[in-house]
Amino acid sequence: MNVLKRKESIKKSLSGIKHKVGVYSAKGGVGKTTISINLAYTLAKMGYKVGLLDADIDCPNVTAFLGLDAKIDISKIPLVPVEKDGVRIASTSMLVDDSKKPIIWRGPLVAKMLEDFFEKTEWGELDYLVIDLPPGTSDAPLSILQLVDMQGFVIVTGPGRISALDSKRSALMVKRFGVHILGIVENMSKEEPSQNSVKLSEELGIRLLGSIPTDPKLGDRDDTGGVAVMYDDYIYRIFERIIKDSGITS
Ligand SMILES: Nc1ncnc2c1ncn2[C@@H]1O[C@H](COP(=O)(O)OP(=O)(O)OP(=O)(O)O)[C@@H](O)[C@H]1O
Ligand SMILES: [Mg+2]
Repeated sequence: MNVLKRKESIKKSLSGIKHKVGVYSAKGGVGKTTISINLAYTLAKMGYKVGLLDADIDCPNVTAFLGLDAKIDISKIPLVPVEKDGVRIASTSMLVDDSKKPIIWRGPLVAKMLEDFFEKTEWGELDYLVIDLPPGTSDAPLSILQLVDMQGFVIVTGPGRISALDSKRSALMVKRFGVHILGIVENMSKEEPSQNSVKLSEELGIRLLGSIPTDPKLGDRDDTGGVAVMYDDYIYRIFERIIKDSGITS
């Protein structure tokens, strides 16, 4: 199937989802997964129907963050996401026998896996599907940009210069595909957004939506499973503001 036909078929499968929002940075470890999970849970807390897709095929961490070891039954198509706290979640870690073993796939297989997730998963009616992307600017981001009609991307950066450099690469890649960028979020901020992030926002002409502090509640604590926005009102308000300022709920 060529790209256009595949895109049509994916569009049909995802037709029950109103908005698809990606969380992305080419830089590893800046907090894409942390932000994806907390954005999804904030949207759910705001009363929306939400799905969360872990598009990090090689190192799918969403389930580990959530302390979730449920499996998706792959003998049945369509695949049915696992529901936790009202959020529908799908991740490659739910498809393999041992989610702690490495998943070693070449680019085309990564793309195929993503296509299957988009084509064969029954998300049902959703207001938002939040997609947690892996770092880099190759296979997974490329497939998503080519195949899915995204409402937009949230670009994550850290306070440092290299984070800003890599986040700029990601933003330029998204722009090249003519896809909207909802805004930039600085994670693990000191007191206020760093000069690097302010400069990044100015250079790209993209709004800095907010900054998220370094807080152990947002870290990968040993007592897995608790999502900060569910029990910490201060953190919830930060994410709620980011969502409102991104324009996705208006
Ligand atoms: N605001 C924060 N405060 C404290 N710890 C954080 C915060 N954001 C992220 N972390 C921690 O930093 C680490 C990296 O975060 P995360 O896995 O979300 O990044 P990522 O960008 O998804 O990484 P990868 O590129 O590997 O997918 C994790 O241990 C996470 O718990
Ligand atoms: Mg991640």
